[in-house]
Amino acid sequence: MKTYEGLRPSIAQLLRSTERGVEVEIKGWVRTRRGNKNVAFIALNDGSTVSNIQVVADVGQFGEELLKQVATGAAVRVVGTLVESLGSGQPVEVQAKSIEIYGGADPETYPLQKKGHSLEFLREIAHLRPRTNTFGAVLRIRHAMAYAIHKYFNDRGFYYLHTPIITGSDAEGAGAMFQVTTLDVASPPRTDEGKVDYSQDFFGKMTNLTVSGQLEGELGAMALSKIYTFGPTFRAENSNTPRHLAEFWMIEPEMAFYELADDMTLAEDFLKYLIRYALDNCAEDLAFLAKMYDEELIERLRFVTENDFVRLDYTEGIEILKASGRKFEFRVEWGLDLQSEHERYLVEEHFKRPVILVNYPKEIKAFYMKLNDDGRTVRAMDVLFPKIGEIIGGSEREADYDKLVGRMRDFDIAPEDMWWYLDTRRFGSAPHSGFGLGFERLLLFVTGMANIRDVIPFPRTPHHAEF
Ligand code: 4AD
Ligand code: MG
Repeated sequence: MKTYEGLRPSIAQLLRSTERGVEVEIKGWVRTRRGNKNVAFIALNDGSTVSNIQVVADVGQFGEELLKQVATGAAVRVVGTLVESLGSGQPVEVQAKSIEIYGGADPETYPLQKKGHSLEFLREIAHLRPRTNTFGAVLRIRHAMAYAIHKYFNDRGFYYLHTPIITGSDAEGAGAMFQVTTLDVASPPRTDEGKVDYSQDFFGKMTNLTVSGQLEGELGAMALSKIYTFGPTFRAENSNTPRHLAEFWMIEPEMAFYELADDMTLAEDFLKYLIRYALDNCAEDLAFLAKMYDEELIERLRFVTENDFVRLDYTEGIEILKASGRKFEFRVEWGLDLQSEHERYLVEEHFKRPVILVNYPKEIKAFYMKLNDDGRTVRAMDVLFPKIGEIIGGSEREADYDKLVGRMRDFDIAPEDMWWYLDTRRFGSAPHSGFGLGFERLLLFVTGMANIRDVIPFPRTPHHAEF
């Protein structure tokens, strides 16, 4: 059997194999062992697929002592013959010739004995939950989406730009930041006025973990034309919702010479490509998640790839919400930001498809967004998805130096602190646009999982950073 390393095939490969009667070597973790006095059936999984491979072992040959150690959770090596399976449910099985135990798992203490643990319980054992079918499926889909993101941009002439994780600017205004310091927090050095003296800190100034790679991404786009970032971002908001993490991954393309309409077209094409990629390449895992959690999952994914997104002005969106006769928890008023309940009403009930909402009031969006001629709105766009609400936030950027400085003053941002950003508007400024896709929001949509803590291996939320 041909494999890339020329060595041992994965269980996924063995299950697809058409060879019979050949000797194979498999290594993995025991999911279950059952059987009778004569024969033991061992279900093995190595994380390459949601399906297990069945190993058939003769009790007389291996002895009950050894087979007892082949317990749920144990890591084993099996050499045997790949044969047509007599039982239903699997194409092939392995008739064991030898079994070696790498590491046992005590049935008294190994927490993943049975199937069907609650997702809440599994969050408490996030160090072991990758061994469940659910998290295996989610993590494989997560990998496939990351790969597809790089492929999408690479195929279209975008360059992957690595923007810094530690930043000295806090101008995004996207929320509270996590400070990075090597000062002694118990007794930091102080200035004569009694303030913390950051000139003595590691970077000689106050620094934080980034909330977005965009500002540096713009610097790259104003040279390479089309770039994207894909990295971790950090927000210290105390929002304990199923859609917020304190550490999440964001994809931020930034394109010179793109106007808002081009930005929208790219965002829609990008999302459809990723969802289609999942449908084409993650079918087995999606089918498993659909069966376990969300029967409409596949249909919802197909629907999004096959239908145009609605493009709608914020102002019209407000009118629709006001005319809806719906009692919302949060007020609907021109000038106020939309809450998730409003976004989902537009998407799920009014239009019944994804919506790109554009031209928001300037007061509720970031300083760098291009001012419209009406002087009241900016060229912002949010892509709103069923079950998620906002999945993408983006805009055309203000390319005019004077207008940008004016917007900074409106937001109490000192232009001197951002001289490097303003330089792109002093030298060879050009229209440009970009957006940010929340990677875990995308995964929520693609996997159908309901809580963002269940689509990232080790979630960081308020009071949770154990694993
Ligand atoms: O709308 P946001 O704040 O936009 C930006 O950061 C811009 N700099 C993007 C750009 O134009 N380059 O965040 C972008 C996306 C949101 O639409 C959402 O999907 C996700 O990031 N996001 C979060 N995901 C998980 N947890 C959080 N706390 C998130 N905050 C934003
Ligand atoms: Mg946003």
